[in-house]
Amino acid sequence: MPPIIDEIRRLLKERNAVLLAHNYQRDEVQEIADITGDSLGLSQYATRTDADVIVFCGVHFMAESASILSPEKTVLLPRLEAGCPMADMIDARRLAAWRREHPEAVVVTYVNSSAEVKALSDICCTSGNAVNVVRSIPEGKEIFMVPDRNLARYVEKASGRKLAWWDGFCPTHDQLAAAEVMKEKKARPGALFITHPECTPEICDMADAVLSTSGMLEFCRRSPAKEFIIGTESGLLYQLRKENPGKQFHVPSRSMICANMKIITLEDIRDSLVSMSPAVSVPEAVRLKAKTALDAMLAVPRDAS
Ligand code: 13P
Ligand code: SF4
Repeated sequence: MPPIIDEIRRLLKERNAVLLAHNYQRDEVQEIADITGDSLGLSQYATRTDADVIVFCGVHFMAESASILSPEKTVLLPRLEAGCPMADMIDARRLAAWRREHPEAVVVTYVNSSAEVKALSDICCTSGNAVNVVRSIPEGKEIFMVPDRNLARYVEKASGRKLAWWDGFCPTHDQLAAAEVMKEKKARPGALFITHPECTPEICDMADAVLSTSGMLEFCRRSPAKEFIIGTESGLLYQLRKENPGKQFHVPSRSMICANMKIITLEDIRDSLVSMSPAVSVPEAVRLKAKTALDAMLAVPRDAS
């Protein structure tokens, strides 16, 4: 076993820390993590652990969510510059301006957003529960989804509710082209195509299922099919292959890589545990408002309709 892994394990013990890794992290980071999962699942796990320190291997908004839900814990993000370009496409100033013009609207904010944007929102959502969140809003209300236009268009179709949205997108998912998926489907007849709702409506329409990263893992675990084409960031292949040794997984494009999700290395994790930095926290006034929007989401029943 490489010495750095022993070193990280020893530091985790000394600091009473847990290591959480998002499903898109580098393979070697997922391999040493105490738990892997999607953005919300990891933040919820962070509230349940009695560790004093959370080492969050993901992007900035995820570490912020963990800190919003567990302010008493130290949340380390081993590389502070690991951000989410889609989350950065909207800021509090522009959302506040929109709200002033639409004072009656309900703002539904994807968890891929800053704490300040969450604080200005009525309710949050994830890729896995966005349809239920929108269905929980009383009929007749104006609904505005930020920041992902693709998630919003998918939810509008799936929920049957009329939505307005911010014109943000995930550069990794948005660029997947229908021709690439068609080519892969032709090459692998019989394979199921599953995709993330951050892909364009054209791609979602081609899919056998549209799911969050955790939803994809569950779908492939349960499915009797033996071959899958996966429309999301290629880091998910690590868990898919680990959990399903008898099945085959392919991504339709070499560009399905989120550079931000690959920034954190084992050395960064070690260094952050030594220096106990960089730590992510949210000013209390912002945290309380952002938590209200996250709590509203967590209160929506899973099968609300
Ligand atoms: P999940 O919450 O489905 O893991 O997705 C996070 C993300 O960043 C997708 O690009
Ligand atoms: Fe953001 Fe897209 Fe990267 Fe997810 S894959 S963290 S949405 S840029």
